[in-house]
Amino acid sequence: MRLAELRLENFRVFSSLDITLSPGINLFTGGNGAGKTSILEAVHLLSHARSFRSANRDVLLQEGQSHLSVFGQLLTGADVQHRLGLLRTGARWQSRIDGTQPQSLTELLRLCAVVCFEPGSHALISGPAAERRSFLDWGLFHVEQDFTLQWRRHQRALKQRNALLRQSPRESELGPWDIELAGAAVVLADYRARYLDALRPYLVGLASTFLSELGAVQLSFDPGWNADMSLLERLQQNYARDIARGFTSAGAHRADWSLRFDLASKREHLSRGQEKLCALACLLAQAQHLAHTKGDWPIICLDDLASELDAEHQALVVKSLGLDAQILITGTETPVALAPLIVDGAVRRFHVERGSVTAL
Ligand SMILES: Nc1ncnc2c1ncn2[C@@H]1O[C@H](COP(=O)(O)OP(=O)(O)OP(=O)(O)O)[C@@H](O)[C@H]1O
Ligand SMILES: [Mg+2]
Repeated sequence: MRLAELRLENFRVFSSLDITLSPGINLFTGGNGAGKTSILEAVHLLSHARSFRSANRDVLLQEGQSHLSVFGQLLTGADVQHRLGLLRTGARWQSRIDGTQPQSLTELLRLCAVVCFEPGSHALISGPAAERRSFLDWGLFHVEQDFTLQWRRHQRALKQRNALLRQSPRESELGPWDIELAGAAVVLADYRARYLDALRPYLVGLASTFLSELGAVQLSFDPGWNADMSLLERLQQNYARDIARGFTSAGAHRADWSLRFDLASKREHLSRGQEKLCALACLLAQAQHLAHTKGDWPIICLDDLASELDAEHQALVVKSLGLDAQILITGTETPVALAPLIVDGAVRRFHVERGSVTAL
């Protein structure tokens, strides 16, 4: 899929912006603070309904303004067109698909898939487990129709059980929620384990390309509870502890996964650059898997590519993406690896300067 056009109003430094994007590589260059990352952030917003820089999407609203909008004209691989929009008016956020408000935001998010590598992406490797769970869950949201329903069922059961735990319940009162929570958690764990298995071949390929010096890679999955007993038994065994803490200590909400290399058995053995390359391998594996399962590449955003990766790795990334994906790259300078493609006319270039963008 690709964005043919992107329109912003009162989005961070952009009072008004309307750009036509190339189906292939788009390069945005300009000085610090010009607004390059903000363009990728707007594209990411159409796919995730949140920024990759801040948990609070209200910071996206231009200082002093009361409304903002992000509109994108999306073309899918099957040549279906959609006009997607996210608007903030007053304190409310609304979504639009082809001019009308969908029943839920999920409908919009399902149409648009954006994979974004940015300076904070190393958190996927070195950050908290929540980062890695959202990575799996976002991928599952796009490839498994039923996943969202199961995820919501699990969230509901967890919330109810935690609320009850804070009221010093009798064990018999927790019983029904244990059964509901354990049932939903087992389904989530199964989805997540199978998804990680499906990613494995893509990830092994990309990791051996980007991090050949570290030897073979292994992926392992932790469902969030110890396999020596069922989750239902574990929940029952943890009653005293869970009541004392006021929350459920084991379950799918504690799931995690990790990557280990033959020649770097601990995460702490990786350099910061290697962590970034690992994160990039995971994100591109997710993109390749999505492309093969759905027959359509997600849009790929690479923020500050040249300052994140050396020239050799930049070239490997561009090569591994092939010709089918729409790619949006930013940088204060043109990344060295793109120079030959610019000569061939394969890159659409934009200059960004404090809130305005000029096509070169
Ligand atoms: N809510 C806002 N209202 C107005 N301006 C904002 C808002 N949020 C951020 N800005 C401004 O937007 C500009 C764009 O920042 P952005 O991070 O997109 O720049 P950049 O080109 O990626 O810079 P760098 O090269 O340093 O990464 C900054 O100058 C910042 O001051
Ligand atoms: Mg930036």
